[in-house]
Amino acid sequence: MIFRQLFEPLSSTYTYLLGCEETAQALLIDPVITSLERDIAELRRLGLTLVYSVETHIHADHITAALELKQILGSLIAGPAFDRLPCTDLGIEEGIPLRIGGIALQPLHTPGHTDGHFAYLCRDRVFTGDALLIDGCGRTDFQNGDADALYRSVTEKLFSLPDDCLVYPCHDYNNRRVSSIAQEKTRNPRLGNNRTREEFRDIMANLKLAPPKFIDYAVPGNRQCGVCPDDLPDNLQNYCRHMTQSPQG
Ligand SMILES: [Fe+2]
Repeated sequence: MIFRQLFEPLSSTYTYLLGCEETAQALLIDPVITSLERDIAELRRLGLTLVYSVETHIHADHITAALELKQILGSLIAGPAFDRLPCTDLGIEEGIPLRIGGIALQPLHTPGHTDGHFAYLCRDRVFTGDALLIDGCGRTDFQNGDADALYRSVTEKLFSLPDDCLVYPCHDYNNRRVSSIAQEKTRNPRLGNNRTREEFRDIMANLKLAPPKFIDYAVPGNRQCGVCPDDLPDNLQNYCRHMTQSPQG
């Protein structure tokens, strides 16, 4: 399997490129609109055809590139069926693998950060979205977030994967790239070391985080699979650089 971990610096998002060496088909997990050209160039460089963009959840901190990729490359948009987005070509459900060539993603419904959140297991690795981050987890204070649900998703579903399963998160803000289930079970300060549900609930209730500055634009844009709004304030323009509006365009 061809594998690339690609970083988007504005929202510190990791996009994952998975390619089948036999069929030259590929998928992208959580592509970001600002990295559209980079991702297309990487697919071309590797000689891969993008079949699916796959979302872990409706993001609040960046806009997905799924719709632009579809318009430019003809790829399909896959995302949690739970979210019932009309722009989605394939609704993902737990128990139904997503296959391209020799690659199969096993979807794991992992609510808590958002109610429709999915992680994807693929061979020796799991793409955990914002359910489980390296030494952390996604916040639970918007988009139907629920600390109790996230506790169950991580401790019952993700922590029951093999210890050696690699953990590839949707974000990291400190240049870390990969962890493992064993590492998070022991080291994660919010969920590891047998933290109780009550302890986790307290931690999440006292984070005192400011609302994400892009959320009011990102969520509606992502509910359309990646549409940038026309009324974006000047200070947020960097979050929404369309190819047609790029300096080269
Ligand atoms: Fe998120």
